[in-house]
Amino acid sequence: MRIGISNDHAAVELKNSVLQHLLEKGYEVVNFGTDSTESYDYPLAAKVLCKAIKEGTVDLGIAICGTGVGISIACNKHKGIRACCCSEATSARLTREHNNANVICFGARVVSTELANDIVDTFLTTEFSHGPRHQKRIDMITEIENSEL
Ligand code: RB5
Repeated sequence: MRIGISNDHAAVELKNSVLQHLLEKGYEVVNFGTDSTESYDYPLAAKVLCKAIKEGTVDLGIAICGTGVGISIACNKHKGIRACCCSEATSARLTREHNNANVICFGARVVSTELANDIVDTFLTTEFSHGPRHQKRIDMITEIENSEL
């Protein structure tokens, strides 16, 4: 499984630590984020990651900003992207099982390194449940994406 990771300037340190953790676990990881603490807008960090997911270059994404909120909002504006912002592993598990989320987001100013690793480990090892009721709701989200409200 190929994983994409992206981040703004507020999350360089946490990105590097999560990246290292994933490499040690044997994942193939593509770094789309900034490696500088110079200001780098989170919508750009979201855009490059979401593009790679949509093109199939990577399978799942990890997106980190200061709070995880801005980058998750930006990711969710991209068609076909279901991004979950969370600060604990239960949501990371349930968003894979129920929402078939393809991006997990969290905040470098919110979670510790240990918690971030726990969140990504859970997210990456949980499968979508394929339950018809969950698929129906995901289809409803896709319908919203495709409609002009
Ligand atoms: C950048 O200072 C900060 O606004 C950003 O990382 C994020 O927290 C936004 O939601």
